[in-house]
Amino acid sequence: MAHRDEAPYKPQNRQEVRELVQQLEAHTKKGRKSNFSVRKNTFNLPSNRTVDSWRMQDWDYKKPDLPTYARGLFTYTTLDGNPEIAVRGYDKFFNHGEVSTTRWENVQRSTRGPYELSVKENGCIIFIAGLDDDTLLVCSKHSTGPRDNPDLSHAINGERWIDKQLSALGKTRADLARKLRAMNATAVAELCDDSFEEHVLAYKPEDAGLYLHGINLNLPEFATYPGPFVDKFADEWGFKKVMYVMENDIKKVKAFLDEVSETGNYAGRDTEGFVIRCQAQDFRDGPYHDWFFKYKFEEPYLMYRQWRECTKAIISGKSPRVRKHKKITEEYLLFARRCLQKDPQLGKEYHHNHGIIKMRDDFLKERGLKGSDIIRQEREGGEVENSQTTRNIVLVPVATIGCGKTTVAVALTKLFGWGHVQNDNIIGRRNRPQMFAQAVYSALGTSLVVIADRNNHQKRERKQLIADVLNIVPEVKFVALQYVHDRGNYDNIRKATRERVLSRGDNHQTIQAGSKSQEEIIGIMEGFLSRFEPVDDSGSPDDMFETIIDIDATASSRDNLETVITRLHSEYPKLFKEMPSADDLDNAIEAALNDYKPDLKHDLGRSSNSRSNGGSLALRQVQNASAKAGKDPKVEYFGVQLPASDVGRILATVFRDQDAETSRFYNQLDKSRRIQPEFHVTLIHRASIPEHQGVWERLSQLHGEAVKQAGPGAMWQKPGAKMGDCKVQLERLVWDGRVMCFVVRLLNGQQSGAENGQAPVFETVNPIAHVTVGTANETIKPKESNDLLQKWLQVGSSEETGIKEVTVKGHVVLDGVVRGIMRK
Ligand code: GTP
Ligand code: MG
Repeated sequence: MAHRDEAPYKPQNRQEVRELVQQLEAHTKKGRKSNFSVRKNTFNLPSNRTVDSWRMQDWDYKKPDLPTYARGLFTYTTLDGNPEIAVRGYDKFFNHGEVSTTRWENVQRSTRGPYELSVKENGCIIFIAGLDDDTLLVCSKHSTGPRDNPDLSHAINGERWIDKQLSALGKTRADLARKLRAMNATAVAELCDDSFEEHVLAYKPEDAGLYLHGINLNLPEFATYPGPFVDKFADEWGFKKVMYVMENDIKKVKAFLDEVSETGNYAGRDTEGFVIRCQAQDFRDGPYHDWFFKYKFEEPYLMYRQWRECTKAIISGKSPRVRKHKKITEEYLLFARRCLQKDPQLGKEYHHNHGIIKMRDDFLKERGLKGSDIIRQEREGGEVENSQTTRNIVLVPVATIGCGKTTVAVALTKLFGWGHVQNDNIIGRRNRPQMFAQAVYSALGTSLVVIADRNNHQKRERKQLIADVLNIVPEVKFVALQYVHDRGNYDNIRKATRERVLSRGDNHQTIQAGSKSQEEIIGIMEGFLSRFEPVDDSGSPDDMFETIIDIDATASSRDNLETVITRLHSEYPKLFKEMPSADDLDNAIEAALNDYKPDLKHDLGRSSNSRSNGGSLALRQVQNASAKAGKDPKVEYFGVQLPASDVGRILATVFRDQDAETSRFYNQLDKSRRIQPEFHVTLIHRASIPEHQGVWERLSQLHGEAVKQAGPGAMWQKPGAKMGDCKVQLERLVWDGRVMCFVVRLLNGQQSGAENGQAPVFETVNPIAHVTVGTANETIKPKESNDLLQKWLQVGSSEETGIKEVTVKGHVVLDGVVRGIMRK
C-alpha cells in the first residue's frame, strides 16, 4: 500500500472474519489430516472478557494457501456478539535466501519500491490495539502475559511503558484504545529495555522504551502503513521511532545491505540486521501487496553471542566451545575469568542475563577496539586460524537418500580437484565404517579437502567418522553440510528426493530404481528420513563440527553448490585460489548431472551371497539387458522430449498477454508447482502395446540400435539413448480445471538428415498429438489430457463446457529428441 498520501484504512468484514476464525478453529483439531495445524490459546482479560490467540508452527508459514500468514493474531467477540480481529501482527517474513521468494533473483523480479529498510531492533515484539469497550490490549506475539507474574511478562512490561508515555502526554489508555480501533489497526512496537531483559545488543537507559515500527490493518490479508505514517503516529502517541532508509532501486538495496553486512555496524551501532518492507506480486501481472523480508547480519553479532555462551559455560564449570574468532575469544575469556573471579556475584547475575554487555564492553574498552574493528581486522589480517586454513578439511554431508550429496560432491571435485570418498564405493560388508574413515584419511594425503559422501544422518555415524579420522590425523577440521530436515517439511523433502531417485534409474551403486520395486526404494528412503538426527552442536558429537553449513534438501544442486562454496569461502577464505564464476558452477553441476556414472553397482539390501564383488556382475547384467533391448521390457513409453526451458518460456509468454481469468489455471499450476518438470509428446505408452504392437516393435528396434550405438549401459542413464530427431510445432493450449496441454503437430521430414531419406518417421498412436503441461494435483494423471482433448474435439471450448483454449501465436517449432523412457 505504498505510493499514498493518506494512511490506509479498511474496516473488517464480519463474514470474512467469521470464516477466518472457523477455518483456524477447524485446524486446531488433533488427528485431522491437513497440511498445517493451529494452536489456540484463550486468555482472560482484567475485564473478565477473553481473547483467543492463534498460532502456527514457524515452518508452517512457508506453506501455500493458509487462511492467513499473520504471525501474531488475536480475535475476540464484540459486545454485540460478532467475531473481530483484535490484534494482527506482520505476515511472517523470512531471511534473504531462506525461502524461494526471498532469493535475490526473485526479490528483484517480483517486488517494487519504495523499499523501506529499517534496523532490525532486537528486543521483543509488542502489539497494542483497542477493544470495543475502550480497553487497551497490550500483548506479545502469542500471549497477553501471565498476570500472576508480571515481572516476567513482556506484555505487562510493555503496558508499563505505554502508561509512562501516555501520562507524559496527558492522555489515557482509553484514548489510545479508541484511536486504534477507529483505525482498525494494531500498533506494532519493539520493547527494548535492558533493565527488564538484556538482549545481546545494548540499549542505554535513555534509549529504552517502545519503538513503534509498524501499524497493521486488522484484516486477514496483510496491509500495513508506510513508514511516514508510522512515524507520525509515534510522535502523536509518545513512541520512539525506528530509523529507516528509503530506497527505490532494489539493486541499491542489495548493495547497501551487502556493504553494511561487512561489519554489522550501521550508523555507529552494532546491529542484527534489517527488515526490508516493500510490495510484491505472487505471480507476473498479479496485484501488488505489502511484503517484508529480512536481512540478518552475521558479525560481530555472532561473535558476541559466542562470547556470551562461552562466559555462561565457564560460569557453570563447562568448557567453552570456541568455534570462530578463536584468538580474540580466548583473550576475551581470560578477561571474563578475571572479572568473574574478582566478583563472585557477577556470575549469578550473568546467568540471569545481566551484565553481559558490560563485560563485553569493558573488554573492548580495555583493548580500545570496537566489535566491528575486530571483524575487519580478522578479515584483513587473517588473524584467525580459519582464514589461514588451506587443507585438512573434511566435508561431512548430513542427509538422506537422493538429497544430491554425490551431485554436489562431484561438482566440487570438478571445480577444485578435491577428494571424494563415496561410501557406496566401499567394497565388502565388514568394517565398512572403518574402511570409509580410512579412505577419507588416505584421500587427505593427496587432496586439501575431502568429501565424506555418506548420509551421516545419525549422530552415531558422525561420531564414528569423526573419531576414526581424528585418530589418524588429529588436525582435521570437520564441516557439516546439513541438508536441513525439518519434520514439518518432510512432505516437500519426500517429493524432491523421490522424484530424483526414481528417475535416476539404475545409475547408482546401491539404489537401483530401475530394478528394485518402487515401494522397496521408498521404504529404504523412509527409513533414513525417520532415523534422521539433525546436527545439534550443543553436544557430542556435533560440537566437533567447526562449521555447519545448512542447505536446502528441496533446492537444486546448483543452488546448494553455491551455498556451500559461499559459506566455505567466508569461513576459509584461503581455501580458494580463485572463486568460480556462475558459469563455472553451472558447468560443474551440468557435468555432475550428465557425466557422472558410478563405476560400481551392488545391492546392500540383499544377503551377502548375492552381492557383487566389485560391480562387474551388475555391470554384466546391464550389458545383457541392453543386448536384449529390442524387446526390452523396461521401456515405459517412447516419446519426443522437448527442451523444458523453451516450453516454460513459451507458456509464460502466452499467458503474459492474457487477462486474469484466462491465466487463472496457468497461474494456479505455476504457483502450486504443478507444471511438469519435463515435456514430451508420447508416441506410444506400453499400455497401448496390445492395440499397436507393430508400432511398439518398430520403436523398440530403433531403441535397441540406438542403445547399441551409445555403448553398454546407455539405456540406463538419463536421459537415455537418442533414437532420432523430430521437430514439434506447438499450436494451441487447451485446458479445463484439471489438466492443461498443448495440441501439437509432429513435423517429420523437417529434421536434418531427412533429405537423404534415412531419418525415421515418428507418429503417435494417441488420437491427438499433445504435450501435457500440468495437472491440478497429484491424483490427476497426465494421460487425462487424452480425455480432455477427446471432449474438446466433440464439444469445443466455451463457458458451458468449461474447456478453454488459446492459440500459440506465430509459428512455434521446437527441436525434439525421440527417446525410450525407462520404467520407474
Ligand atoms: P544417495 O547416494 O542415493 O543417497 O543420493 P545422493 O544424495 O548422492 O543424490 P544424487 O546426487 O545421486 O542425486 C540423486 C539424483 O538426482 C541423481 O540422479 C541426480 O542426477 C539428480 N539430481 C541431483 N541434483 C539435481 C538437481 O539439482 N536437479 C535435477 N533435475 N536432478 C538432480
Ligand atoms: Mg550418492
